[in-house]
Amino acid sequence: MNALSAAAIEKEKNRRRFLHFMATSPLLALPGYAQAQSGDLLSSPADALNVMDFEAAARRVLPPAHWGYLATGTDDELTLKANTMAYRQIQIRPRRLVDASKADPGVEIFGQKWQTPIFICPVGNQKAFHPDAELAVARAARTRRFNMMLSGVASNTVEDVTAELGHPPWFQLYMPRRWADTEKLIKRVEDAGCPVVVWTIDLLAGRNTETTERFRRMDARDCSTCHLTRNGGVRRRPMFDGLNGDYNPPEATWEFVDRLRKLTRMKLVLKGIETHEDARLCREHGVDAIYVSNHGGRAMETGRASIESLPEVVDAAGDIPVILDGGIRRGSDIFKALALGARAVGIGRPYLWGLSAFGQPGIERVLDILRAELTLIMRQAGTPSVRQIGRSAVVTKA
Ligand code: FNR
Repeated sequence: MNALSAAAIEKEKNRRRFLHFMATSPLLALPGYAQAQSGDLLSSPADALNVMDFEAAARRVLPPAHWGYLATGTDDELTLKANTMAYRQIQIRPRRLVDASKADPGVEIFGQKWQTPIFICPVGNQKAFHPDAELAVARAARTRRFNMMLSGVASNTVEDVTAELGHPPWFQLYMPRRWADTEKLIKRVEDAGCPVVVWTIDLLAGRNTETTERFRRMDARDCSTCHLTRNGGVRRRPMFDGLNGDYNPPEATWEFVDRLRKLTRMKLVLKGIETHEDARLCREHGVDAIYVSNHGGRAMETGRASIESLPEVVDAAGDIPVILDGGIRRGSDIFKALALGARAVGIGRPYLWGLSAFGQPGIERVLDILRAELTLIMRQAGTPSVRQIGRSAVVTKA
């Protein structure tokens, strides 16, 4: 037996010991863990059959507190579950004998062309998942030509991400509590060349994330190098350097939208719209695109799935593009969202699973899988282009 094969055998033994440990661990009883058993653990991104396979791999590498931050919803996590389950209530109506052999999932938004309608949702603090964090995401978005939104509470700056991405990302804003700080932050983002600012308005009232807290209690590490307190408070939010640091003004109203509208030349998108009433207000207040989202079930409990909110928002939006995220795990989910009127569709957790497990190659594989699944379903349904995926392509179960 040579040294290499001995090492390989020892590695396999360790893997089996770990699997045995996980199989008997009480961790499996916690939310987010049960589903992970369905996919075997991956030794490389190429092993993944679907994006859910990366969930198990991410769980394996992340410390408990960081896994809890990734997986959490709010309260009993009904909104979180609804986001994925709702897609099962929607069925596809395929048309036959249409030549969709060259199905093209490309889209254009605000004059920017993308290889697919899939975009990368803004997610904060990505050093919790991988040391390369948003820089790995930017590199993957660059090689795969996907639109990337950068979180305002990212672990990396907009300038560094722009360098890796090759062009400025769309910037997601958590509005600072002091208006003077909002002015400074918007100026910095404009100077970086970002074409679009996406203001997230679904976390202004606070939230209750119990899964985060349960997993934090299991984590025995000393977190003081990265965190100010045991239960939150990340030390570095580089986009808030030089600012007071507090954000999400709870008293915000539509008047704040007007102020933001006047402040910037960037396209303005509101993230977190779920009703036709608010879609109409977006039009009245000069918003350029509406982003239907419930923050991946991380903001408010017992809400509707984002796909259930989509049709009424699309009906009220008129000419304004509507984009959506929440619970997208399959190309067929993307197809259904497009059929119900979304112009682009975001993914959050799936690319974070890829990032956590394998860094840039993991994200690239997640993006490749979803693009391939979307292209396949477009062919099967007889829709050669995204424009041709209309409401008649789906039906919702009664
Ligand atoms: C988020 N999300 C989020 N949204 C935002 O506007 N700014 C942010 O900083 C974050 N941070 C964040 C962290 C983590 C760990 C997650 C999982 C999500 C919400 C995100 O942009 C998106 O709305 C959801 O993730 C979409 O749902 P799925 O794809 O995760 O089901």
